Amino acid sequence: MNIIGLDALVFGVDDIDACSHYLADYGLANAGDGRFEALDGTAIVIRARADRSLPPGPGTASMLRETVYGVADAATLDAIEAELARDRPVTRRGGVLRCADDMGFALAFQVSVRRPLALPAETVNAPGAAPQRGPNALGLSPDMAALPRSLSHVVYFVPDAARAEAFYIRLGFVCTDRFSGVGPFLRPAGTQDHHTLFMIQTPPHMLGCEHFTFHMGGPTEVMLAGTRFVEKGYQSFWGPGRHQLGSNWFWYFNSPLGCHVEYDADMDLHDGAWRARELPMGADSSQLFLFQYRAKWAPSGPPPAGAPR
Ligand SMILES: [Fe+2]
Repeated sequence: MNIIGLDALVFGVDDIDACSHYLADYGLANAGDGRFEALDGTAIVIRARADRSLPPGPGTASMLRETVYGVADAATLDAIEAELARDRPVTRRGGVLRCADDMGFALAFQVSVRRPLALPAETVNAPGAAPQRGPNALGLSPDMAALPRSLSHVVYFVPDAARAEAFYIRLGFVCTDRFSGVGPFLRPAGTQDHHTLFMIQTPPHMLGCEHFTFHMGGPTEVMLAGTRFVEKGYQSFWGPGRHQLGSNWFWYFNSPLGCHVEYDADMDLHDGAWRARELPMGADSSQLFLFQYRAKWAPSGPPPAGAPR
């Protein structure tokens, strides 16, 4: 089934004002009516927790209320409807198919609203390779844009990762890698991205969203956007660093949306020839390297407090 990836994530939040400021400062464009868009039109949508138009919440601390997948065409919607209507209620109104997965996450499927992007990726010059950036083309400038390009992935806490995975396999997702006893990285058929969904097995009271992520134009944009986010007063949670599985650069932040929010870049692509790896979960397998943000400094005086001497 030609599911491309996430079109939107819909949250029912306690503090709409704080979430609106957060998402705008993160770099998403305020498209009105609680919708905050990346450059390709994929989005985070925020509503009041009590908004009766939202699907019911999971009954945990999670504020995620709906995961919206973009698909290639109406025939894919037909195929999803035929598959899922066999064992659960499915509605289809205004071109949107709605149901719940086997963990109770509310899902919507629609012909994708994402817009094609034509933007250059970050470029690198390296001895031994043809220059990617010619003479006088600068790699970095203080006013360089670093805006989220596309909604990349969502991570769920689930009480039964094997059962949760089986549901998505029915929709044509494939496992690209997994952490033993934790959960799978899943890629739908309409993208080569390493994952659009990752699941972590947890006790039932934690059911919900752990984080979501937008793709940036490269590692420099992750560092630049993350630095600007810290300078605006937001709290770094994990990163910057680079994951082992997926090879994506990452930087996670705390948020008022009841989950962490990540910037990522340069994720691996896979096709049907790939064989999934399985690793034990741990610090060494979660990242190849990890840095911690520090306030800026220049070598004109004593080293900053805590620096090695
Ligand atoms: Fe992530």
